[in-house]
Amino acid sequence: MKKTILDCDTVALDEENGALVIIDQTQLPTRIELKFLTDIEDIWEAIYLLKVRGAPAIGVAAAIGVYLAVKDLQTDSMEVFSKKFKKAKDYLASSRPTAVNLFWALDRMEAVVTGHMQCGVGEVKELLHREAVNIRSEDIQVCRRIGEYALELVKPGAGLLTHCNAGQLAAVKYGTATAPMYLGQERGYGFRIYVDETRPLLQGARLTAFELQAAGMDVTLICDNMSGAVMKKGLVDAVFVGCDRVAANGDTANKIGTSVVAAVAKYYGIPLYVCAPTSTIDMSLPTGDKIPIEERSDDEVTEMWYEKRMAPAGVKVYNPCFDVTDHGLISGIITEYGMAKAPYEEAFREIFREKLNK
Ligand code: MRU
Repeated sequence: MKKTILDCDTVALDEENGALVIIDQTQLPTRIELKFLTDIEDIWEAIYLLKVRGAPAIGVAAAIGVYLAVKDLQTDSMEVFSKKFKKAKDYLASSRPTAVNLFWALDRMEAVVTGHMQCGVGEVKELLHREAVNIRSEDIQVCRRIGEYALELVKPGAGLLTHCNAGQLAAVKYGTATAPMYLGQERGYGFRIYVDETRPLLQGARLTAFELQAAGMDVTLICDNMSGAVMKKGLVDAVFVGCDRVAANGDTANKIGTSVVAAVAKYYGIPLYVCAPTSTIDMSLPTGDKIPIEERSDDEVTEMWYEKRMAPAGVKVYNPCFDVTDHGLISGIITEYGMAKAPYEEAFREIFREKLNK
């Protein structure tokens, strides 16, 4: 199998240097630059500035980040340790609001501390280390399992469309929406993959097209306003997208524009599947109306990071980073325990029961 840049880790713990190591995604596809981050402020900024992004990768980065924030604390008091831990956790949790994996991962890390208040600080540090490493390695298994379930839904030679980057760069390995593509590539399925460029920050063009092409797949990049034309021509058999937060009724927040793709796919009778690790399902929110949607700065739309204006100075801008796709537009939500179909709340409860029993 061909070796690619993606044999590198998207997000990992550098044990030797006590650092979070990431590929700086703001530099892709032109520069492959690894960053070794040790300070919590730099980790917060890397998440906020999308140097590391995508729901699962944000969760992993935060888990490693909060561990690094406390690993060298000099105290024997669990009271003092847990206060400092909580401060670091709350700080990292403020980096981005929509992807629930961030809070899920930080809550998992916090449960280690609160569940071991009777232990020594040294032991809790070790447990935190283990939990961060587990959160990262579980992600690889979860994505691969999602890929196996998703692959059952499509035939060799199929045309697949995806939006944004729910790829390896958004996770640890395989990605979520791209997992069937990677597994299909391993097995010679010969998929034709259409990638929406994904304005404003071009995660589709810069990241998805980059990583799938690097893995040797047949990739065609299209502008966001072209997906309808491609679907109408009969070139797309299925759409796979990722998600940042799924409400109990199946409404799904993902990169802005996903709901438009879903509506168009529905119009043309093309199934749209959301690939969702259970860590992205938020059963505390009954519907998508309650999902907090991040709004980002105007210059992402007017200058696209390149400091070359593409819109008149002073123009009013609205820049929501995500939108919510109504569950009625979704054909199925694929988790690591199989595919949930409507009614989603019931299906999710069944999946969580199964998860609990494993
Ligand atoms: O703003 P981003 O780049 O973090 O948005 C990422 C997405 O919307 C992804 O589709 C989502 O996080 C799923 S990643 C497996």
